[in-house]
Amino acid sequence: MKEYKLGVSDFAELLSISKGALPNMCQRLIVDLDLRFRKPTKEERDGIIRGIIERIDSGSLAVAGPNRLSVWEDGWLENLEELKRTHTLDSLWPKYYDRDVFPVRWMGDYIIPLDEHFELGIRKVFQLWLFLNFFGSHGPVHEFGCGPYHNLAGLAQLFPSREYRGYDWAQSASKIPEVLKRHFGWNMHGTVFDMFHPDDHVKFPENTTILLFSAFEQMGGEWMPFIDFLLEKKPARVIHVDPMLEWYDRSSLIDYLAYRFHKARGYLSGYVSEFLEPFEVNGTIKVIHTQRVKCGNTFQDGYSFDVWAPA
Ligand SMILES: C[S@@+](CC[C@H](N)C(=O)[O-])C[C@H]1O[C@@H](n2cnc3c(N)ncnc32)[C@H](O)[C@@H]1O
Repeated sequence: MKEYKLGVSDFAELLSISKGALPNMCQRLIVDLDLRFRKPTKEERDGIIRGIIERIDSGSLAVAGPNRLSVWEDGWLENLEELKRTHTLDSLWPKYYDRDVFPVRWMGDYIIPLDEHFELGIRKVFQLWLFLNFFGSHGPVHEFGCGPYHNLAGLAQLFPSREYRGYDWAQSASKIPEVLKRHFGWNMHGTVFDMFHPDDHVKFPENTTILLFSAFEQMGGEWMPFIDFLLEKKPARVIHVDPMLEWYDRSSLIDYLAYRFHKARGYLSGYVSEFLEPFEVNGTIKVIHTQRVKCGNTFQDGYSFDVWAPA
């Protein structure tokens, strides 16, 4: 069966930029990663679609919300223990990337990776591009729902002298920055924080960038207290990466399935239609950038993002 490999021009198309606009670091990473894939046969594609429908209809999908805390605690404890043992940054990646090969969504269809790290590879390229293009090079970066600190560690490798703070409701995650600080010398800290009940004592230093990466999705429809908190604390900018319900084109089968999956898992709803758009119109926020990014795991596009600032 014919083999393909994602290259620089594929990522340029994904990110709606010219090839030349993709930083050299991203270009080198694309070449270094194993991004080989094949296209599914008609029967395989039908099987992927049927499998997704069965998962959605099974009623067994875990629904996001307060009852999920123990799952995150256990997951990030595994990362913490591995980090203490190995002192490697690879130990920070969530274990849900360590798995067999699964179909991946790419530009409105499914492709089948030939290497088990393919999906993580796409994420690495995307986030390197995001970090180099939207974070500037100065000022603190604070991430909410930071999990095992792989994003802040990635940023600290690029900009080692900035201040980093992670917030997560999992206690196990909050112990990771101490280890990173000791071994890499980064100015990195952790705070236990529940986005459902934001702690008003938290303060952002001047020129703070807030990152929300695959974390705000977990809030379902309960996101307004945290948005109010951000509006009051006035960070310099908020960079938010997530599957965006409103941006799926439901006339496309592939997007319709992602929309159904998103609903079944109780992920972020109303963020674009009830916050981002109306709050820009009424002058509460300034939207700096929005971008749909058409790729993700089998079930949903995970890397669409928006950048905004309190007005
Ligand atoms: C899918 S993980 C994303 C981790 C990381 N940001 C990333 O980019 O991979 C979702 C994270 O959100 C955290 N989380 C979920 N609900 C939360 C809440 N109410 N308050 C704080 N953190 C929460 C989880 O503990 C977990 O670390």
